[in-house]
Amino acid sequence: MRVSELKFDAESKLFWLRKCLLAGSIAPARYPRLYESFTDSVFFKPTAPCPLPLPSPKEHTPAYAVSAFAFLFGISLLVVREMVNQVPKHVAIIMDGNGRWARQRGWPRSRGHLEGAKAVKACVEACLELGILYVTLYAFSTENWQRPKEEVDTLMGLLRKFLRDYTRDLAGQGIRLQAIGRLTELPEDCQAQLREAIDQTANNDKLTAILAINYSGRAEIVDGIKRVAQEVKTNRLHLDELTAEKFSQFLYTHQWPDPDLLIRTSGEMRISNFLLWQLSYTEMYVTQTLWPDFKREDLLEAVAEFNRRQRRYGGV
Ligand code: FPP
Repeated sequence: MRVSELKFDAESKLFWLRKCLLAGSIAPARYPRLYESFTDSVFFKPTAPCPLPLPSPKEHTPAYAVSAFAFLFGISLLVVREMVNQVPKHVAIIMDGNGRWARQRGWPRSRGHLEGAKAVKACVEACLELGILYVTLYAFSTENWQRPKEEVDTLMGLLRKFLRDYTRDLAGQGIRLQAIGRLTELPEDCQAQLREAIDQTANNDKLTAILAINYSGRAEIVDGIKRVAQEVKTNRLHLDELTAEKFSQFLYTHQWPDPDLLIRTSGEMRISNFLLWQLSYTEMYVTQTLWPDFKREDLLEAVAEFNRRQRRYGGV
Protein backbone atom coordinates (compact mmCIF):
# COMPACT_ATOMS: atom_id res chain seq x y z
CA MET A 1 0.00 0.00 0.00
CA ARG A 2 1.37 3.41 -0.93
CA VAL A 3 0.84 6.58 1.00
CA SER A 4 -1.87 7.65 -1.44
CA GLU A 5 -3.83 4.57 -0.51
CA LEU A 6 -3.62 5.30 3.19
CA LYS A 7 -4.50 8.89 2.42
CA PHE A 8 -7.50 7.53 0.56
CA ASP A 9 -8.37 5.66 3.72
CA ALA A 10 -8.27 8.82 5.79
CA GLU A 11 -10.11 10.77 3.11
CA SER A 12 -12.74 8.10 2.68
CA LYS A 13 -13.36 8.14 6.42
CA LEU A 14 -14.04 11.85 6.16
CA PHE A 15 -16.14 11.26 3.06
CA TRP A 16 -18.39 8.78 4.83
CA LEU A 17 -18.54 10.90 7.95
CA ARG A 18 -19.61 13.90 5.85
CA LYS A 19 -22.20 11.76 4.06
CA CYS A 20 -23.58 10.57 7.39
CA LEU A 21 -23.76 14.05 8.81
CA LEU A 22 -25.34 15.37 5.65
CA ALA A 23 -27.93 12.63 5.55
CA GLY A 24 -28.63 13.10 9.23
CA SER A 25 -28.94 16.86 8.96
CA ILE A 26 -30.95 17.20 5.77
CA ALA A 27 -33.46 14.58 6.71
CA PRO A 28 -35.32 16.75 9.28
CA ALA A 29 -35.44 19.78 6.96
CA ARG A 30 -36.47 17.76 3.93
CA TYR A 31 -38.91 15.55 5.72
CA PRO A 32 -40.15 17.58 8.69
CA ARG A 33 -43.34 15.64 9.26
CA LEU A 34 -41.42 12.40 9.48
CA TYR A 35 -38.84 14.13 11.67
CA GLU A 36 -41.55 15.44 13.95
CA SER A 37 -43.28 12.15 14.34
CA PHE A 38 -39.92 10.45 14.82
CA THR A 39 -38.68 12.83 17.54
CA ASP A 40 -42.16 12.88 18.99
CA SER A 41 -42.28 9.16 19.42
CA VAL A 42 -38.62 8.41 20.09
CA PHE A 43 -36.99 11.39 21.84
CA PHE A 44 -39.28 14.22 22.86
CA LYS A 45 -42.38 16.07 21.90
CA PRO A 46 -41.49 19.13 19.80
CA THR A 47 -42.70 22.29 21.48
CA ALA A 48 -43.54 24.02 18.19
CA PRO A 49 -44.64 22.56 14.87
CA CYS A 50 -42.08 22.57 12.10
CA PRO A 51 -42.41 25.87 10.13
CA LEU A 52 -41.50 24.31 6.76
CA PRO A 53 -44.17 23.16 4.32
CA LEU A 54 -44.87 19.55 5.05
CA PRO A 55 -44.48 17.09 2.19
CA SER A 56 -46.53 14.03 2.16
CA PRO A 57 -44.83 11.38 4.29
CA LYS A 58 -46.10 8.66 2.02
CA GLU A 59 -44.36 10.27 -0.94
CA HIS A 60 -41.05 10.65 0.84
CA THR A 61 -40.82 7.61 3.01
CA PRO A 62 -38.65 5.64 0.56
CA ALA A 63 -36.23 8.58 0.20
CA TYR A 64 -36.10 9.01 3.94
CA ALA A 65 -35.46 5.30 4.38
CA VAL A 66 -32.59 5.50 1.89
CA SER A 67 -30.99 8.44 3.71
CA ALA A 68 -31.42 6.73 7.07
CA PHE A 69 -29.90 3.59 5.61
CA ALA A 70 -26.97 5.62 4.20
CA PHE A 71 -26.45 7.18 7.59
CA LEU A 72 -26.38 3.87 9.43
CA PHE A 73 -24.29 2.25 6.72
CA GLY A 74 -21.74 5.07 6.91
CA ILE A 75 -21.50 4.80 10.67
CA SER A 76 -21.07 1.00 10.51
CA LEU A 77 -18.42 1.41 7.84
CA LEU A 78 -16.48 3.78 10.08
CA VAL A 79 -16.72 1.38 13.00
CA VAL A 80 -15.64 -1.61 10.90
CA ARG A 81 -12.72 0.34 9.42
CA GLU A 82 -11.57 1.36 12.88
CA MET A 83 -11.76 -2.25 14.02
CA VAL A 84 -9.96 -3.63 10.99
CA ASN A 85 -7.32 -0.96 10.40
CA GLN A 86 -5.21 -1.07 13.49
CA VAL A 87 -2.15 0.96 14.16
CA PRO A 88 0.39 -1.08 16.12
CA LYS A 89 0.84 0.22 19.66
CA HIS A 90 4.54 -0.52 19.77
CA VAL A 91 6.91 -0.63 16.81
CA ALA A 92 10.53 -1.78 17.18
CA ILE A 93 13.05 -0.92 14.49
CA ILE A 94 16.43 -2.38 13.54
CA MET A 95 17.96 0.51 11.62
CA ASP A 96 20.38 -1.15 9.23
CA GLY A 97 22.18 -0.14 6.06
CA ASN A 98 23.81 3.20 6.89
CA GLY A 99 27.21 1.92 5.73
CA ARG A 100 25.88 0.50 2.45
CA TRP A 101 23.92 3.67 1.77
CA ALA A 102 27.14 5.71 2.07
CA ARG A 103 29.22 3.20 0.07
CA GLN A 104 26.72 3.31 -2.81
CA ARG A 105 27.49 7.02 -3.08
CA GLY A 106 31.23 6.70 -2.56
CA TRP A 107 30.97 8.49 0.78
CA PRO A 108 32.47 7.58 4.17
CA ARG A 109 30.35 5.43 6.51
CA SER A 110 30.06 8.36 8.92
CA ARG A 111 27.95 10.19 6.32
CA GLY A 112 25.57 7.21 6.27
CA HIS A 113 25.21 7.41 10.05
CA LEU A 114 24.63 11.16 9.86
CA GLU A 115 21.79 10.67 7.37
CA GLY A 116 20.59 7.77 9.53
CA ALA A 117 20.25 10.09 12.51
CA LYS A 118 18.10 12.45 10.43
CA ALA A 119 15.93 9.48 9.42
CA VAL A 120 15.48 8.69 13.13
CA LYS A 121 13.90 12.08 13.76
CA ALA A 122 11.63 11.84 10.71
CA CYS A 123 10.58 8.31 11.67
CA VAL A 124 9.76 9.27 15.27
CA GLU A 125 7.61 12.14 13.99
CA ALA A 126 5.85 9.82 11.53
CA CYS A 127 5.13 7.40 14.41
CA LEU A 128 3.60 10.27 16.35
CA GLU A 129 1.47 11.26 13.38
CA LEU A 130 0.19 7.70 12.93
CA GLY A 131 -0.78 7.36 16.57
CA ILE A 132 1.82 4.73 17.46
CA LEU A 133 2.39 4.92 21.21
CA TYR A 134 5.88 3.40 21.56
CA VAL A 135 8.78 3.12 19.15
CA THR A 136 12.02 1.37 20.10
CA LEU A 137 15.04 2.12 17.91
CA TYR A 138 18.17 -0.03 17.91
CA ALA A 139 20.81 2.70 17.87
CA PHE A 140 23.90 0.91 19.20
CA SER A 141 24.42 -2.72 20.18
CA THR A 142 26.95 -4.07 22.67
CA GLU A 143 28.61 -5.70 19.63
CA ASN A 144 29.03 -2.33 17.92
CA TRP A 145 32.03 -1.53 20.20
CA GLN A 146 33.98 -3.90 17.93
CA ARG A 147 33.80 -1.39 15.06
CA PRO A 148 36.80 0.87 14.36
CA LYS A 149 37.24 3.48 17.11
CA GLU A 150 36.60 6.28 14.62
CA GLU A 151 33.17 4.86 13.75
CA VAL A 152 32.26 4.29 17.40
CA ASP A 153 33.23 7.89 18.16
CA THR A 154 31.10 9.08 15.23
CA LEU A 155 28.09 7.15 16.52
CA MET A 156 28.51 8.46 20.08
CA GLY A 157 28.98 11.99 18.72
CA LEU A 158 25.81 11.64 16.64
CA LEU A 159 23.87 10.44 19.63
CA ARG A 160 24.96 13.50 21.63
CA LYS A 161 24.18 15.78 18.70
CA PHE A 162 20.78 14.14 18.16
CA LEU A 163 19.83 14.67 21.79
CA ARG A 164 21.24 18.19 21.90
CA ASP A 165 19.62 19.34 18.63
CA TYR A 166 16.27 17.57 18.73
CA THR A 167 15.18 17.07 22.34
CA ARG A 168 13.48 20.44 22.66
CA ASP A 169 11.66 19.98 19.34
CA LEU A 170 10.54 16.43 20.18
CA ALA A 171 9.51 17.52 23.68
CA GLY A 172 7.38 20.29 22.15
CA GLN A 173 5.50 17.66 20.14
CA GLY A 174 4.64 15.64 23.24
CA ILE A 175 7.28 12.94 22.72
CA ARG A 176 8.93 11.25 25.66
CA LEU A 177 12.49 10.01 25.24
CA GLN A 178 13.68 6.91 27.06
CA ALA A 179 16.71 4.63 26.75
CA ILE A 180 17.46 0.95 27.38
CA GLY A 181 20.77 -0.91 27.50
CA ARG A 182 23.79 -0.96 29.75
CA LEU A 183 23.75 2.81 29.89
CA THR A 184 26.30 3.19 32.68
CA GLU A 185 28.97 1.85 30.29
CA LEU A 186 28.44 4.76 27.88
CA PRO A 187 30.85 7.73 27.84
CA GLU A 188 30.04 10.10 30.73
CA ASP A 189 28.99 13.00 28.48
CA CYS A 190 26.58 10.75 26.56
CA GLN A 191 25.03 9.60 29.82
CA ALA A 192 24.63 13.22 30.96
CA GLN A 193 23.00 14.23 27.66
CA LEU A 194 20.68 11.22 27.85
CA ARG A 195 19.66 11.98 31.43
CA GLU A 196 18.89 15.57 30.43
CA ALA A 197 16.76 14.47 27.46
CA ILE A 198 14.90 11.90 29.56
CA ASP A 199 14.22 14.46 32.32
CA GLN A 200 13.17 17.15 29.88
CA THR A 201 10.57 14.91 28.20
CA ALA A 202 9.47 12.93 31.26
CA ASN A 203 5.96 14.37 31.41
CA ASN A 204 5.09 13.75 27.76
CA ASP A 205 2.76 10.94 26.84
CA LYS A 206 1.80 11.17 23.16
CA LEU A 207 4.61 8.87 22.00
CA THR A 208 7.45 7.21 23.90
CA ALA A 209 10.61 6.92 21.77
CA ILE A 210 12.99 4.41 23.32
CA LEU A 211 16.62 4.39 22.18
CA ALA A 212 18.37 1.05 22.61
CA ILE A 213 21.98 2.03 23.25
CA ASN A 214 24.78 -0.32 24.27
CA TYR A 215 21.93 -2.81 24.13
CA SER A 216 22.01 -6.60 23.92
CA GLY A 217 18.96 -8.83 24.28
CA ARG A 218 21.02 -11.58 25.91
CA ALA A 219 22.63 -9.12 28.34
CA GLU A 220 19.16 -7.81 29.22
CA ILE A 221 17.97 -11.34 30.04
CA VAL A 222 21.13 -12.00 32.09
CA ASP A 223 20.62 -8.71 33.96
CA GLY A 224 17.01 -9.76 34.58
CA ILE A 225 18.07 -13.15 35.93
CA LYS A 226 20.55 -11.45 38.29
CA ARG A 227 17.77 -9.22 39.62
CA VAL A 228 15.49 -12.23 40.08
CA ALA A 229 18.29 -14.06 41.96
CA GLN A 230 18.71 -11.03 44.21
CA GLU A 231 14.99 -10.95 44.97
CA VAL A 232 14.97 -14.67 45.74
CA LYS A 233 18.07 -14.36 47.93
CA THR A 234 16.45 -11.62 50.01
CA ASN A 235 13.18 -13.55 50.25
CA ARG A 236 11.20 -10.95 48.32
CA LEU A 237 10.34 -13.51 45.65
CA HIS A 238 9.79 -17.26 45.78
CA LEU A 239 11.00 -19.20 42.76
CA ASP A 240 7.62 -20.97 42.49
CA GLU A 241 6.03 -17.59 41.84
CA LEU A 242 8.22 -16.89 38.83
CA THR A 243 6.27 -16.94 35.55
CA ALA A 244 7.08 -15.52 32.11
CA GLU A 245 4.82 -12.58 32.89
CA LYS A 246 6.56 -11.94 36.20
CA PHE A 247 9.99 -12.24 34.60
CA SER A 248 9.06 -9.49 32.11
CA GLN A 249 8.92 -7.18 35.11
CA PHE A 250 12.68 -7.65 35.58
CA LEU A 251 13.58 -6.54 32.06
CA TYR A 252 14.62 -3.04 30.95
CA THR A 253 11.28 -2.77 29.15
CA HIS A 254 9.07 -3.69 32.13
CA GLN A 255 6.92 -0.54 31.82
CA TRP A 256 5.99 -0.96 28.14
CA PRO A 257 3.99 -3.51 26.14
CA ASP A 258 5.91 -5.90 23.87
CA PRO A 259 6.33 -4.68 20.28
CA ASP A 260 3.52 -5.55 17.87
CA LEU A 261 5.64 -4.92 14.80
CA LEU A 262 9.39 -5.26 14.16
CA ILE A 263 10.77 -3.43 11.16
CA ARG A 264 14.24 -4.24 9.83
CA THR A 265 15.73 -2.21 7.03
CA SER A 266 18.30 -3.23 4.38
CA GLY A 267 16.94 -6.73 3.79
CA GLU A 268 18.83 -8.80 6.39
CA MET A 269 16.73 -11.60 7.94
CA ARG A 270 18.15 -11.48 11.47
CA ILE A 271 17.11 -10.31 14.91
CA SER A 272 20.70 -9.39 15.84
CA ASN A 273 20.32 -9.71 19.61
CA PHE A 274 17.48 -7.17 19.72
CA LEU A 275 14.63 -7.50 22.27
CA LEU A 276 14.98 -11.31 22.27
CA TRP A 277 12.38 -11.84 24.98
CA GLN A 278 9.93 -9.16 23.89
CA LEU A 279 9.76 -10.13 20.20
CA SER A 280 8.27 -13.59 20.89
CA TYR A 281 4.95 -12.81 19.17
CA THR A 282 5.91 -9.74 17.19
CA GLU A 283 5.12 -9.49 13.48
CA MET A 284 8.31 -9.03 11.46
CA TYR A 285 8.60 -6.78 8.44
CA VAL A 286 11.83 -6.66 6.46
CA THR A 287 12.33 -4.03 3.79
CA GLN A 288 15.17 -3.67 1.27
CA THR A 289 15.20 0.08 1.91
CA LEU A 290 18.44 1.21 3.54
CA TRP A 291 17.88 3.07 6.80
CA PRO A 292 18.82 6.60 5.63
CA ASP A 293 16.21 6.22 2.86
CA PHE A 294 13.50 5.03 5.26
CA LYS A 295 10.70 7.59 5.05
CA ARG A 296 7.17 8.10 6.31
CA GLU A 297 5.89 6.16 3.26
CA ASP A 298 7.99 3.13 4.25
CA LEU A 299 6.53 3.23 7.75
CA LEU A 300 3.03 3.40 6.28
CA GLU A 301 3.85 0.44 4.06
CA ALA A 302 4.99 -1.54 7.11
CA VAL A 303 1.84 -0.64 9.05
CA ALA A 304 -0.30 -1.59 6.05
CA GLU A 305 1.45 -4.98 5.88
CA PHE A 306 0.92 -5.38 9.63
CA ASN A 307 -2.79 -4.90 9.00
CA ARG A 308 -2.77 -7.72 6.46
CA ARG A 309 -1.37 -10.16 9.02
CA GLN A 310 -3.44 -12.38 11.24
CA ARG A 311 -1.91 -12.66 14.71
CA ARG A 312 -2.62 -15.99 16.33
CA TYR A 313 -0.22 -16.05 19.30
CA GLY A 314 0.27 -19.78 18.85
CA GLY A 315 -3.47 -20.49 18.62
CA VAL A 316 -5.47 -21.36 15.51
C1 FPP B 1 23.53 -0.08 11.12
O1 FPP B 1 24.06 0.34 9.92
C2 FPP B 1 23.28 1.05 12.00
C3 FPP B 1 23.90 1.22 13.19
C4 FPP B 1 24.88 0.29 13.70
C5 FPP B 1 23.64 2.35 14.05
C6 FPP B 1 22.36 3.06 13.88
C7 FPP B 1 22.64 4.49 14.08
C8 FPP B 1 21.96 5.51 13.53
C9 FPP B 1 20.75 5.31 12.74
C10 FPP B 1 22.40 6.93 13.68
C11 FPP B 1 22.54 7.39 15.07
C12 FPP B 1 21.34 7.15 15.91
C13 FPP B 1 20.79 8.05 16.73
C14 FPP B 1 19.65 7.69 17.56
C15 FPP B 1 21.28 9.43 16.80
P1 FPP B 1 25.42 -0.30 9.43
O2 FPP B 1 26.49 0.69 9.67
O3 FPP B 1 25.65 -1.62 10.08
O4 FPP B 1 25.12 -0.46 7.91
P2 FPP B 1 25.75 -1.57 6.94
O5 FPP B 1 25.21 -2.90 7.37
O6 FPP B 1 25.24 -1.14 5.60
O7 FPP B 1 27.23 -1.47 7.05
